[in-house]
Amino acid sequence: MGRALQVGFIGFGGIARDAHMPGWSKLKGDGVAELVAVADVNPAAREAARTRFGLPPEMCFEDYAEMLGKVDLDIVDVCTPNCFHKDPTIAAFKAGAHVIVEKPMTVCAADGEAMIAAGKKARKLLMIAQSCRYLPSAQAAKRASRAIGDIYWARASLLRPRGVPAWGAFTLKEMSAGGPIYDLGVHILDWCLWMMEFPKPVTVSAALYLELANKKSIMKHDPKRYTVPEELAMALIRFENGAVCTLETSWAVNAPEGTFSCFLSGKKGGIDWNWDSLTLVREEFGMLTNAKPQVIPEAGQASHAEEVYDFVDAIRKGKPSPVPGEQAIVTQRILDAIYASAEGGREVGLA
Ligand SMILES: NC(=O)c1ccc[n+]([C@@H]2O[C@H](COP(=O)([O-])OP(=O)(O)OC[C@H]3O[C@@H](n4cnc5c(N)ncnc54)[C@H](O)[C@@H]3O)[C@@H](O)[C@H]2O)c1
Repeated sequence: MGRALQVGFIGFGGIARDAHMPGWSKLKGDGVAELVAVADVNPAAREAARTRFGLPPEMCFEDYAEMLGKVDLDIVDVCTPNCFHKDPTIAAFKAGAHVIVEKPMTVCAADGEAMIAAGKKARKLLMIAQSCRYLPSAQAAKRASRAIGDIYWARASLLRPRGVPAWGAFTLKEMSAGGPIYDLGVHILDWCLWMMEFPKPVTVSAALYLELANKKSIMKHDPKRYTVPEELAMALIRFENGAVCTLETSWAVNAPEGTFSCFLSGKKGGIDWNWDSLTLVREEFGMLTNAKPQVIPEAGQASHAEEVYDFVDAIRKGKPSPVPGEQAIVTQRILDAIYASAEGGREVGLA
């Protein structure tokens, strides 16, 4: 085995430390890849890189451009707030690294196109960290999808009755671009599109609501820090092949319980997926039958480590990106259209 792949982070906050690092730490133990540098504007994040992960002070940078100029990195893991995904990704490509970037890809489709173009120019892989694809139930559902035929209707639902984030940049439009659609909807929408084999979206009709989040009884956040336009969103997405997807997502809604699920209706059967369970619905022996796996391994944070392993495997074997920008840009275009449709109060077309 050659030299371990040299890994640097841009943005070393919660998701980097608690979800991505277990994957990179395991790969270090295997001699495959090792964390060598971190760039974060927050001194506390750089301190964590030193104390928790043993990086020498000179490898903890405030400015990512300085890190990219001084350290020869094979992989850059971008875990900054959404509005800072594009520039660090493009800079990392220019520095000759492969890039894994947290979801959502970025804050608008035009930025996503620029990220894809930069990766192509550098001949490096771009992976969007859509961790839900790596849940054990999701992998099982993908295998089972062969049995349900062409999917013509998908219902994607990720509702939190009460779950407005009171931390981080999630509620700040200027940092995150949007509310639960960008935080949660992007997970479940990517999941559905992946199961549907990414049909081409042609129209979107959407509505956004902000009715509850700023009520005193619900609010745990600073109201001045709630600048996104929605706490609840729903959308109907039509595809060129005639299929439709209905999407609903919230941080606050007066619903009896939360959801984290997709129902897929195919021409030969259906799949009812929850993040931790799966039901395959088919006509068997003249009966409509529900089949459930007896065991699905526990999910936890392991899906984030799995995505890291898959990315490194693709790099080492010269395979395509497991979650390429060309897929994430489809989701990004739909997100753009959701806000345009809701703002205009009408269905919008996608070019
Ligand atoms: N896959 C998931 O389930 C999941 C869960 C949570 C967050 N995320 C995504 O991860 C990203 C980060 O979220 P988080 O929860 O870790 O946020 P966070 O606030 O905990 O961490 C972000 C870090 O980026 C740093 N930062 C900001 N601007 C920077 C810059 N210009 N250069 C270098 N560092 C910079 C901040 O100082 C902070 O330490 C977001 O895009 C979010 O959508 C994904």
